[in-house]
Amino acid sequence: MKKTTVKTIAETKGSEKIAVLTAYDAIFARLADLAGVDAILIGDSLGNTVMGYNSTVPVRMDDMIRHTAMVARAKPSALIVADVPFAVAHKSFDFLLEDCANLLRAGADCVKIEGGALLADSIKRLVNAGIPVMGHIGLMPQQILKLGAYKTFGKSREEKISLLEDAKKLEEAGVFSIVIEKTDAETAAEITKKVSVPTIGIGAGAGCDGQVLVCADVLGLGEKIPPFAKKYADLEGIVKGAFSQYVKEVKKGAFPG
Ligand code: KIV
Repeated sequence: MKKTTVKTIAETKGSEKIAVLTAYDAIFARLADLAGVDAILIGDSLGNTVMGYNSTVPVRMDDMIRHTAMVARAKPSALIVADVPFAVAHKSFDFLLEDCANLLRAGADCVKIEGGALLADSIKRLVNAGIPVMGHIGLMPQQILKLGAYKTFGKSREEKISLLEDAKKLEEAGVFSIVIEKTDAETAAEITKKVSVPTIGIGAGAGCDGQVLVCADVLGLGEKIPPFAKKYADLEGIVKGAFSQYVKEVKKGAFPG
């Protein structure tokens, strides 16, 4: 399979929907790639799914670099997108540049940054330095301590205007794509019409250019699955069944046979 690049993704707008899944290691990166995803996101949802935290806030750059390298070792033809974790995008530019460069050195093809207009200048400088950036607006889970709860954005006129402005500023800054998380579906559809880069929705309706889901939710492995996600398999039941069969057989002396 031909390697998907940020250019491929950017050029897909309007012709084909873009399918993105998260993965955090070589096992699931390989499977997602074999399934034909366009991009694999090493999301900082790593914190809630794999690391056992209850938000993405405790995830550190070292964690992202380690898991990005795991995904990259699967050599997927899908685009590898690495999340920039909590607070890093607000560092002074030289530190941000070095952190993003380290994600690329670990094997990412590009980075994703939560933040709109406020971060447009830094994002523009990163893009100029050769670091492709995917934007992320709407619900930004890294803001959870300030927000108090995960909510839907873009319902009010003010929020809609502000989201449109964020998307426009990111486009001007040179992002190749924008994730829109948990927003009013009409707002996301309007943003999608008004920007030239593809939008990737999660809990933002069907009007986006693509969709992203967290692999644990898709596989039925998460303890709490958000209402907008879709469980395509119940791996929790399958894995628990296999593990308890193994325990029974060891206890009975049936394994090894
Ligand atoms: O961290 C993540 O997995 C994400 C997606 C939910 C978009 O940012």
